[in-house]
Amino acid sequence: MLPTIEWKDDHIIMIDQRKLPEEEIYHKLRTFEAVAEAIEEMIIRGAPAIGIAAAMGIALGYKKLGKDDEEMFLKICKRLSETRPTAKNLFWAIDRMKNLYLSLKNKSFEEKKVALINEALKIEKEDIEMNKKMGEFGSSLIEDGDTILTHCNAGALATGGFGTALGIIRAAHFSGKKIRVFADETRPFLQGARLTTWELVKEGIETYLISDNMAGFFMKKGEITKIVVGADRIVSNGDIANKIGTYSVAVLAKENKIPFYVAAPYSTFDLSLERGDEIPIEERKKEEVYLINGKRIAPEGVKIKNPAFDITPNELISAIITEKGIIYPPYRENIKKIMGEKE
Ligand code: MRU
Repeated sequence: MLPTIEWKDDHIIMIDQRKLPEEEIYHKLRTFEAVAEAIEEMIIRGAPAIGIAAAMGIALGYKKLGKDDEEMFLKICKRLSETRPTAKNLFWAIDRMKNLYLSLKNKSFEEKKVALINEALKIEKEDIEMNKKMGEFGSSLIEDGDTILTHCNAGALATGGFGTALGIIRAAHFSGKKIRVFADETRPFLQGARLTTWELVKEGIETYLISDNMAGFFMKKGEITKIVVGADRIVSNGDIANKIGTYSVAVLAKENKIPFYVAAPYSTFDLSLERGDEIPIEERKKEEVYLINGKRIAPEGVKIKNPAFDITPNELISAIITEKGIIYPPYRENIKKIMGEKE
């Protein structure tokens, strides 16, 4: 299994996803502040992975307090919740840690500390198990000979391990189906070029890297037979937020009559929101767009926009694959049926 993040008792280790594939550098993070900065700077990224990182950051931060301090505990949770706004998994994991802590009012510092560490580890373990389940359900939709296009990185690196969209691709591959993958490079942060291809090539899956603007060309030629992507947030009506560019892929898929699948665990669902346009979209640093490898590609003075995610409306989605099963339209009704009773 590829390393994403590891709890080491007095620190957390994570691979620096900004440096891949050239360098495999691991950081030892010793404070919750360092974990918060790692999420902001995208040393770790991907919706489930940042949820796990936040949970471990809370456990680490609390442990380092050395004594019980509810005010400080809540400050740690707040700091971690301010790192990135779009992925539901981050807030889901923080709420889970907070609810556990608040349910242990009469316990000692030692007991609370152990409970918080165990909870963070449980969140990580459950995430891997959910990905494997999703892989089983999702690979039933993949046929021998399929060429699957994916966008961004929804792999082991974006999760506790195995991956959501890439988990489905892995499961199909392990079951002996001959598949090929087209990975969109995913400008501007290049998660597809740097991370998805790194994972898939290691796995021995035939993988083609294309720049984002090539996707339509290959769809029109009939070379792409399925599309599988992850999600950062899925709301009640089935609209999803995922990496910027996902919406364009979904529109092209519809035009070319190619099934467009979204894979995500229940921690990505936000049933408090009705529609996709209510999801907060992160705006990231301008440098990510105008610098490539530290080199300027646009003149001084040009204005830049850098939304990190977009919304794909439910009518463009063929099915949502979860660890509880595959959800088909009508989404509002069927999401409620599968996810409604979860918490
Ligand atoms: O900005 P990122 O790299 O955190 O964005 C990641 C994505 O958009 C992924 O597709 C999503 O989190 C699903 S990961 C299983």
